[in-house]
Amino acid sequence: MIKTCLLGLGRTGKVVAEELLSSREFDLVSVIAGPKSKKINKSLRELTNLDSELLVSSSTSLAEEIRKNKFAIAIDFSSPEACLKNAQVLAENGIHMVVGTTGFNKIQVYELKNLVQHYKIGLVFAPNISVGINALLFIAKSLAKLVPDYDVEIMESHHRNKVDSPSGTAIKIATEIHNAKGKSEKEKKNVFGRKGATQRENSEIGIHAVRAGGITGVHQVLFAGEHDEIEIIHRSYSRKVFAAGALTAASFILNRKGFFSMEEVLSYEDKDQEGPIENLA
Ligand SMILES: NC(=O)c1ccc[n+]([C@@H]2O[C@H](COP(=O)([O-])OP(=O)(O)OC[C@H]3O[C@@H](n4cnc5c(N)ncnc54)[C@H](OP(=O)(O)O)[C@@H]3O)[C@@H](O)[C@H]2O)c1
Repeated sequence: MIKTCLLGLGRTGKVVAEELLSSREFDLVSVIAGPKSKKINKSLRELTNLDSELLVSSSTSLAEEIRKNKFAIAIDFSSPEACLKNAQVLAENGIHMVVGTTGFNKIQVYELKNLVQHYKIGLVFAPNISVGINALLFIAKSLAKLVPDYDVEIMESHHRNKVDSPSGTAIKIATEIHNAKGKSEKEKKNVFGRKGATQRENSEIGIHAVRAGGITGVHQVLFAGEHDEIEIIHRSYSRKVFAAGALTAASFILNRKGFFSMEEVLSYEDKDQEGPIENLA
C-alpha cells in the first residue's frame, strides 16, 4: 500500500481521510495540522467519527514525520500559505504532492512550479479536483468554439465559510473559455459582480459568487445569444467527489515527475512514467 500524508484536516481533509482509510491502495500514515491547531496530538477517532488512532501532528514537525513514517505522497487541502511552507519541506525530501487547495496567487503558483522543477518531484495542481467539474470544463470549451459570439456569465455558489471568492474553478472556467475563443492576454477580461452603470463589453466574462449556508459547490455557465441561451450546471452533493478526485490524482502522480493539472490526470493516455516538467521560462 502507498504510504500517504494528509495536510489539512478541515471540512474537505476529513472526507479525504475517510476515503484514504477505506482505500485498498493507500495507507494513511500521517496527518498534519497548522502549528497552532487544537487538533495536534489528538487522534482521528477523537476529532472525527473515523475508526483510527492515528495522531495529528504539527506542520512544524513535518520533516520528522517524513523520516518516521516514510510516506511517498502528500495530499493537501489547507491554505495557499500553509501549502507552500509544507511543500518546501516535502519537495526537499522528494515527496510527490496533490494540491487541492485553492486561492493561490500567480507568485505562489510560480513558487510551487519552481519547487517541482528544482527538486524534480511530481505535483498535481488541482483547484478543480472533481471529475464532474472537469467534464463541465470540457463542454464549456466546446461551446465557446461553437457559439463564440454568445455572452458568457459564470455563477458559483459555496458554503458561508469558503475563504476565497470567486472560486478557483470559476476563474479556471473563464480562462479556458477565453483560451478556446483565441483571446490574447489583453482581451481576457473578467468582471467580478456588477453594480451601477456597467454596460457589458462583448468579450468580457462576468463572474458572480454566492456564499451561503452549507452549499458544497455549484458552478453554472451561461452562454446567452440574442434569441436563445445554453446553460451548463455542475452541483456537488458531497465532498466525496473531491476525495475521489484526490485519490485518482495521487495514483497518477506517484511515479511521475512534473507539474500536472487535473485535466491532464483525467486525459492522460501515454503511460510513460515521466511527465513533462512545465517550462518556466
Ligand atoms: N480542489 C477542489 O476541488 C477543492 C474542493 C474543496 C475544497 N478545496 C479547497 O481546499 C482548501 C481547504 O478547504 P476546506 O473547506 O477543507 O477548508 P478548512 O475546513 O478551513 O480546512 C483547512 C484546514 O487546513 C488546516 N491548516 C492550517 N494551517 C495548516 C498547516 N500549516 N498545515 C496543515 N494544515 C493546516 C486548518 O486546520 P488547523 O488550523 O486546525 O490545522 C484547517 O483545518 C481550500 O482552499 C478550499 O478552497 C478545493
